[in-house]
Amino acid sequence: MLSGKTILVGITGGIAAYKICELIRMYKRANANIIVVCTANALNFVTKLTLQNLSGNEVAVEEFDVKDFKPEHISYADQADIMVIAPATANTISKIAQGICDNLLTSIACAFTKPVIIAPAMNCNMWENPVLQENLNKLHYEILEPESGYLACGYEGKGRLCSLEKIFDKTVELLTYKPLSGKKIVITSGGTIEDIDPVRYISNYSSGKMGLALADTAKNLGAEVTLITTKNVSRKYNVIKVKSAFEMKAAVEKEFENSDCIIMAAAVADYRVKEISPQKMKKTSDDEITLTFVKNPDILKRAVRQEVKNLPSCHLALLPSDCRLLRGKRKFN
Ligand SMILES: Cc1cc2nc3c(=O)[nH]c(=O)nc-3n(C[C@H](O)[C@H](O)[C@H](O)COP(=O)(O)O)c2cc1C
Repeated sequence: MLSGKTILVGITGGIAAYKICELIRMYKRANANIIVVCTANALNFVTKLTLQNLSGNEVAVEEFDVKDFKPEHISYADQADIMVIAPATANTISKIAQGICDNLLTSIACAFTKPVIIAPAMNCNMWENPVLQENLNKLHYEILEPESGYLACGYEGKGRLCSLEKIFDKTVELLTYKPLSGKKIVITSGGTIEDIDPVRYISNYSSGKMGLALADTAKNLGAEVTLITTKNVSRKYNVIKVKSAFEMKAAVEKEFENSDCIIMAAAVADYRVKEISPQKMKKTSDDEITLTFVKNPDILKRAVRQEVKNLPSCHLALLPSDCRLLRGKRKFN
């Protein structure tokens, strides 16, 4: 069920840590590759040797144990398809919510861009602590709330780790949810660059992040993605780098032909300089210079017109709920 998937299991220092040995076996039975990362405190509850044997991989704890050219936290964040932190202590939850990265596990969580599941487990009073609840609300992840019952600390209340089946099922759901599979989506991003002369241009402050986030989301939801962008982007899907509105228009028209959906997130300049000087414009004795601008083509309008000619096909919408599902509850800013 999970073959080809790498699950990063993060274990923190809670009494329920021993239960994660069984969760690892469940993932292994489903053919997943498991990487275990523990906090130092987790090793008070479960041994590295056990986790290593069950996962079939070395267990990582120390952030500065760098073997590769890449720091461990980035290398693990890149390798895994999903991160599952279970049990998640009040301490680790609060650290992640505050952006604190003082060990390998919290550093990975901060760098992780794919879905994250958090399964908290703790004493019921810790669970009800308003500070903990406030921190949990800050995390836009998939939170699997603890269950009520008899707790290891002797209390009775909400705080027991949810069932392993629930964690397993949510992992499968997030890893296999591909509603856009078989669909081709074209996304534009970044601000266009309009030359004035060989060394000067006009542009805008668009970061290109919105289009990139949408492209990553669509890819993870199973779409075949083409990102047309003015930014330098390195991704495993098709990325076409363009500069001006005209270059973007040409790329959109070519790519849009066989696609199911286009999302225009680029900030395309409305105007361009009428005549681009072939040489660097020299400073003159004049206090003012005048540049004449002409209107750029409306890329979206043209693409839509082309689409209307080729009906039917533009029927796909990327729902915010899809974006949320992809990254747990993480929202796009
Ligand atoms: C026996 C024992 C059991 C504990 N169980 C929990 C627990 O279930 N949940 C929790 O949030 N903290 C628990 N703690 C407290 C954490 O271990 C402590 O907050 C620690 O700093 C967590 O570190 P970590 O988040 O880096 O793993 C327990 C501590 C002890 C000594």
